[in-house]
Amino acid sequence: MPKVRTKLVTWEEVHDWAFRLARLIEDSGWRPDAVVAVARGGYVPARLVCDVLDIHDLLSVQVLHWGRAAEITAKAHVKYPVPVKLEGKKVLIIDDICDTGDSLIVARKHLEEAAAPAEIRTGVMQWISSVAKIKPDYYVEEVKDWVWYQYPWCRVEDTTNFLEKIVAETGRHEWRFDELVETFKEWYGIDVGERVFRAAIEKLAARGVLKVGDL
Ligand code: ADE
Repeated sequence: MPKVRTKLVTWEEVHDWAFRLARLIEDSGWRPDAVVAVARGGYVPARLVCDVLDIHDLLSVQVLHWGRAAEITAKAHVKYPVPVKLEGKKVLIIDDICDTGDSLIVARKHLEEAAAPAEIRTGVMQWISSVAKIKPDYYVEEVKDWVWYQYPWCRVEDTTNFLEKIVAETGRHEWRFDELVETFKEWYGIDVGERVFRAAIEKLAARGVLKVGDL
């Protein structure tokens, strides 16, 4: 059994979920004038939804929340705000996933205060209903058992963070390449591929976090 429940998400799945999210919005009869992507996870789904719905007004707000390796390290807060007014507009906020719900809550409150749109709705690919404080207006999948979605746009970042956790928890800094890959697969139950793995290890080695003899 892996230590952290993790799902390796493919680009095809992202494409499928974004299409389905766009269709849900369309079928509801509501058409947003603008989409606000919650950076950074909402960028790709928001861009794809804009593509399917032919929406050209795409903005973003960056909310910081999650820290390294699937751990919450800070209170959710806006790092980069929406710098324009959206008065009279219907706005759809898109994120990849609604986990605790804090990012969406913070993004929504910020948008109401800073941009004053006529209406705000929220959409995500995954809604973790067992832990989320809110239910998004649109979601593709309801997830009941918490899992870390390893989305394809942050393979190296997540892998780096996960490896750092292995080093921290085992207290072991020197590894053979195969051993580290095997330990990673055991802990997380996914295979991110050799190229991603090497890129992550190189970053950690450059930072002096670990040493892999046969890299
Ligand atoms: N960001 C916040 N929660 C997440 C999760 N469960 N999986 C992937 N990314 C996330």
